[in-house]
Amino acid sequence: MNEIAVSARNVTRIYGSGDSVVRAISDVSLEVARGEWIGVKGRSGSGKTTLLNCLSGLDRPTSGEIVCFGRDIARLSESQMTEWRRNQVSFIFQSFALMPTLSAFENVDLPMRIAGMPKRRERVVECLEMVGMEKWADHRPYEMSGGQQQRVALARALANRPSLLIADEPTGELDTNTSKEILALLRRIVIAENVTVLMSSHDPLALESTDRVVELRDGRTVGSDGR
Ligand SMILES: Nc1ncnc2c1ncn2[C@@H]1O[C@H](COP(=O)(O)OP(=O)(O)OP(=O)(O)O)[C@@H](O)[C@H]1O
Ligand SMILES: [Mg+2]
Repeated sequence: MNEIAVSARNVTRIYGSGDSVVRAISDVSLEVARGEWIGVKGRSGSGKTTLLNCLSGLDRPTSGEIVCFGRDIARLSESQMTEWRRNQVSFIFQSFALMPTLSAFENVDLPMRIAGMPKRRERVVECLEMVGMEKWADHRPYEMSGGQQQRVALARALANRPSLLIADEPTGELDTNTSKEILALLRRIVIAENVTVLMSSHDPLALESTDRVVELRDGRTVGSDGR
């Protein structure tokens, strides 16, 4: 657990200008080891999504430094950033965000198809098996429960073998038992794939499942429990 996956130093993200300035995150410093699962908690508007977006290269900090798997991502050009994200980062969301017209198989295949990967079929099957959804390969999202959709979303996120998995409120729309299943699955995946996970959540159950929780208050870190 010693290799540093993500290192953020004094990261600040300011939106807007003049009277409408919002300091979404202020002076956040954080180090995450490879294979570590970090929870980010805090009230609505405390900056959780902004932090995840900056650390994963979806957004750029206004100031500060972010080194992610050896790359100084805040300084990459737009195209380098897109390329870097495509190779290193995957996302899962509260709302699952599967393509409604595609089957589970096609949803999992999509990011690899976009990346032009050869021999994708085996990896799609492997990922669906990892999340226990191989029998649902030909089904569309509307035929599945929320928990099943999140499993497929997780399979899709793993397909490209990301180094970093960003999970923004992944259990936000799931009941307690389904949340537990998804969290146990995430833990197995963290171990099996050695993926680093940054997860925002309001859900105590989800936060308890992580290795460590970072709390944000008004965009600043107020504690890291080292669990
Ligand atoms: N693109 C944007 N433009 C302007 N302000 C923004 C933008 N994104 C976020 N903000 C503001 O930054 C602050 C932090 O928002 P953020 O979405 O990161 O919070 P959050 O902790 O994820 O909240 P939630 O729990 O509701 O998802 C909020 O005040 C929000 O209004
Ligand atoms: Mg958010």
